[in-house]
Amino acid sequence: MTTAHAQEATGDTAAAARARGATVWLTGLPSSGKTTLALALAGRLRAEGHEVEVLDGDEIRSYLSRGLGFTREDRHTNVTRIGFVAELLASHGVKVLVPVIAPYADSRAAVRARHTARGTELLEVHVATPVELCSARDVKGLYARQAAGEISGLTGVDDPYEAPEHPELRIRTQGRSVAASAAELYTFLTERGLA
Ligand SMILES: Nc1ncnc2c1ncn2[C@@H]1O[C@H](COP(=O)(O)OP(=O)(O)OP(=O)(O)O)[C@@H](O)[C@H]1O
Ligand SMILES: [Mg+2]
Repeated sequence: MTTAHAQEATGDTAAAARARGATVWLTGLPSSGKTTLALALAGRLRAEGHEVEVLDGDEIRSYLSRGLGFTREDRHTNVTRIGFVAELLASHGVKVLVPVIAPYADSRAAVRARHTARGTELLEVHVATPVELCSARDVKGLYARQAAGEISGLTGVDDPYEAPEHPELRIRTQGRSVAASAAELYTFLTERGLA
């Protein structure tokens, strides 16, 4: 292939990647790195001309899921609602990044089934960080508050977290920089033809 032809092919691939919508769901424990990696990926994709939306748990709970608590049923409802919005956006060519704990396997499976039924791609990324490291990071102070008895029902500590058995990607953040993990996530998208 000549250089000109190679550049044209690369350009076509990039354009095709930009046109494809998909949901990238980052599941993992509190402080595992979901938001950090979603925002890093969002920045890079936007810079490359992708339409990107980030549906983050805290913001969603202030609006779309206002009034919901943290019972199993409410967590399921929260994940189902987010999944519905994600599937709508993804079906219109948006890269939807969802850094949301989603602790229950059946909730995640239901979101996947709906995406599949709509013909929309969903990639499940497990941000796999040991609970001891999450607790040491404790970005929001939740682990400390749980330990002090101020709150209960913290995912991974005294509330269930069902880690995905077969995620499309498992990112182990222990001993890895944010940049390295973000690069791993981006590379995965390129392998899938999405970046
Ligand atoms: N390799 C890595 N990947 C991602 N985050 C990392 C990594 N190494 C260290 N960190 C740090 O871990 C913390 C992860 O916090 P973040 O808010 O992203 O977690 P979260 O999973 O979104 O938690 P929550 O469920 O409470 O919203 C950040 O302070 C980040 O800088
Ligand atoms: Mg977060």
